[in-house]
Amino acid sequence: MTVTKSKQNKVFIFDTTLRDGEQAPGFSMNIDEKLHFADQLVKLGVDIIEAGFPISSPGDFEAVKRISERVKGVQVAGLARANFKDIDVAWDALRYAENPRIHTFISSSDIHIQYQFKKTREEVLAIAVDAVKHAAKYTSNVEFSPMDATRSDWNYVAQMVEAVIKAGATTVNIPDTVGYAIPSEFHEFIKFLFNTVPNIDKAIISVHCHNDLGLATANALAAIEAGARQVECTINGIGERAGNTAMEELVMALKTRGEKFQVYTDINSKQIMSTSKLLTHITGVSVQPNKAIVGANAFAHESGIHQDGVLKNAMTYEIMKPEDVGITKSTLVLGKHSGRHAVIARLNSLGYNLTDEELERFFKLFKVLADKKKQIFDEDLEVLVGEAVYKMKGRYKVTNVQISTGMYSPPMTLVTIKDRYNDGVETFDVAHGNGGVDAGINAVKKITETSAKIESFNLVAITGGSDALCEVTVTVVEEVNGRQLKVFGNGVNIDISVAGILSFVDALNKLEYKKQRNHIGEKIEAKL
Ligand code: KIV
Ligand code: ZN
Repeated sequence: MTVTKSKQNKVFIFDTTLRDGEQAPGFSMNIDEKLHFADQLVKLGVDIIEAGFPISSPGDFEAVKRISERVKGVQVAGLARANFKDIDVAWDALRYAENPRIHTFISSSDIHIQYQFKKTREEVLAIAVDAVKHAAKYTSNVEFSPMDATRSDWNYVAQMVEAVIKAGATTVNIPDTVGYAIPSEFHEFIKFLFNTVPNIDKAIISVHCHNDLGLATANALAAIEAGARQVECTINGIGERAGNTAMEELVMALKTRGEKFQVYTDINSKQIMSTSKLLTHITGVSVQPNKAIVGANAFAHESGIHQDGVLKNAMTYEIMKPEDVGITKSTLVLGKHSGRHAVIARLNSLGYNLTDEELERFFKLFKVLADKKKQIFDEDLEVLVGEAVYKMKGRYKVTNVQISTGMYSPPMTLVTIKDRYNDGVETFDVAHGNGGVDAGINAVKKITETSAKIESFNLVAITGGSDALCEVTVTVVEEVNGRQLKVFGNGVNIDISVAGILSFVDALNKLEYKKQRNHIGEKIEAKL
């Protein structure tokens, strides 16, 4: 149903995939990946992109700056603790944005105030007010968050909210930092703030919910019913620990149950699926098949009774149309003889509009695959887009793999790798192992002299048949200067062993980026 739009019933979507999402272990992205992702968020129609936490690392600073310079028609936020230095650095990165927002925060719960800060409530309140006043000197777009609000004294939070609005905050965000709230109680809390804080109408009330109890989306919806008009969320629900409110869930709940909520968002829901896929391509982390809205089974009907009903009328068991989230089914089979136009048209209908340069790279891969595989499905196209457009250009590039194995001969793999940090010099080595992949990974280890270890190895066939593309995702860990770094690597190939080797090298590239970005060995200023 359509909701009549007004200023009062718009819910602002604040996307924090690049900040809260990216800070979760294994989800780090390099700058090019962040820029691609920010472009996609603009297409999706988010109102605010939280691009990073500028003081936390040189990489975060650079990403916030570059995103600020690049994206138009959207607000760009940068996170800063409630101190002048964080705020100054955040502003240095954000100042290039069309509409910059400083997001500053300090905890309001006694648990944090006493044990983490060793301060009094009065001192923390004064710090919050000073920080907001300082940020407001740079921009009128200031957001404040009392961290761990849901485990705080409600009256103290109300006092803080009133004081920061008076100091210049135009958005006040109520975080459920540890995912402790339950919907009825969170609803009551937000209502309490609306009834208690005298100047609350001068700011937009936002919520930021974590999913530790699996309630992040439910809590955000309960807060909207109580009057909140901004939700902080992430694509696929990624984020610290169990993650944040999943944007796709929130947006589709508001859309599907418009009659109940009577609010709207400016999200173009048809871009949801491609945004979700882009994130999985970039991070190498897939969503579980039963994930609401974007999981592979979210619109699949298995039981006979359900299939029968859906064939007669989709409304029997489908509350949303797959097309509304950007899932389109093709009747067109692509292959070796398909013309460029047909392939580009199919890519467009899947939500991918590639530049000429990206198309060049895409078609090179398409040709290689089409020579090996008769029919190319949508899932194959999506993987190729991931490889051609979003795959990180890291230090190492695999230029050749040769595997020799058999039932009675010991597996042996030769790998050749180009090192971009060493004038593109190519080095090859051969190793044995328990199978072609293991031998290949041993060869990569010899060439790169890495101490990284594979923690987990997952393989999926993208499409059916023995000529299916295989996707391998590995979790790789490395101990660097006493810190354990963890990344995911992802590799796709028609050959299982090659996909495994590519995934390991992808992980090594991410580790390399992580080490540089945080200047491991130097002090990192802040990490939440
Ligand atoms: O979870 C949290 O409290 C946060 C704040 C910085 C908003 O991420
Ligand atoms: Zn958070």
